[in-house]
Amino acid sequence: MRETITIFDTTLRDGEQAPGCSMYLEEKLRMARQLDRLGVDVIEAGFPVASEGDFEAVRAVAHEVRRPKIAALARTGRDDITRAWQAVEDAARPRIHTFLATSDIHLQYKLKITREQCLELAGKCVAYAKSLCDDVEFSPEDATRTDPDFLIEVLQQAVDAGATTLNIPDTVGYTVPEEYAQLIRRIRERVRGIERAVISVHCHNDLGLAVANSLAAIGEGARQVECTVNGIGERAGNAALEEIVMAVRVRGDRLPYETHIATEEIVPSSRLLAELVGFSTQPNKAVVGANAFAHEAGIHQHGVLSNPLCYEIMTPESVGLEANRIVLGKHSGRHALARRYAELGYELTREQLNAAYHRFTALADKKKNIYDLDLLSLLPAELRRRQHIRPTDSAEGRLRTSRAAAGAR
Ligand code: KIV
Ligand code: ZN
Repeated sequence: MRETITIFDTTLRDGEQAPGCSMYLEEKLRMARQLDRLGVDVIEAGFPVASEGDFEAVRAVAHEVRRPKIAALARTGRDDITRAWQAVEDAARPRIHTFLATSDIHLQYKLKITREQCLELAGKCVAYAKSLCDDVEFSPEDATRTDPDFLIEVLQQAVDAGATTLNIPDTVGYTVPEEYAQLIRRIRERVRGIERAVISVHCHNDLGLAVANSLAAIGEGARQVECTVNGIGERAGNAALEEIVMAVRVRGDRLPYETHIATEEIVPSSRLLAELVGFSTQPNKAVVGANAFAHEAGIHQHGVLSNPLCYEIMTPESVGLEANRIVLGKHSGRHALARRYAELGYELTREQLNAAYHRFTALADKKKNIYDLDLLSLLPAELRRRQHIRPTDSAEGRLRTSRAAAGAR
């Protein structure tokens, strides 16, 4: 029996904090409905004290989206926590998520409080949140740069005050997998009553390690992962939901867990988010990038056309894509070219294909994007007159682009 990893989606909170990613109420609602279809367990809908608009957006999500838990973020002040509670109190399953920085650098320069004050504040704020809501998550911000002994003391206060989830943020994306795993192990060993709480991980991607760090922590008993669609989030972003989920699915032999995610909703979620924030992921982004299932090199195309498993470790359909993409460019071979001509209605003899291929490589050396119209122009006029293109495969309608094909699918 596989253990379940809770997927806590913070696209609408940490993701939204990224430059250029803020969303209006109606946009947050659209994304929240999609996250519901995607099957996330918790939606962190926003930071209600940040603005009136965010408060209303969190409230609207809490009213409408009834299956997942709806969390609202709050600092440790009473007013923050009260505001967060007012935003989610009508949710079917509300959660208050309160956070307090614990690293010396944050205590000294940002909060200007002592460790003793921090300890006291942690206990007080969790107790207050608990008086409002049964489900309370506590995060010691910058946990991975906090003195580990002090971190244990703070977490002890939080558990004693009733926190049901202890989240361990790698706020600045500083940790590495082994170190983070050790930290989680130490927390499990040293915080008394830890079995009453779920350990959660929240990793930023400043060194490109957010997913690796999250997976390492799962190996030591973390059972909630905080992540965002497309990996959006502060600076270099958060752990990408689609990467965590597909790693668990594809590598079930090494990662014996399951999630509640409907993986076919991954690409629709990624595309909706891109539409809402106005930009897509980079083309080579794992799982959802435009090139994640695209093949241009001849050897790869031949392999994939014979059996996709040669170069694909998951099917495009499993993440909600219609199909992979065979891209014609200067690295392509005869197999892919023949197939595209066949799709356009031209069954070429070996000699005709050789001649077309010769012209094709010469063109591809000069031109990055090869379109169907280009392919037609490579055929002798006599051949073009004899056969014609099926209407659905019109040259306009079936663009095939090469390496520079960002965004095209
Ligand atoms: O990165 C972070 O520390 C956070 C906390 C508020 C959980 O986003
Ligand atoms: Zn964060």
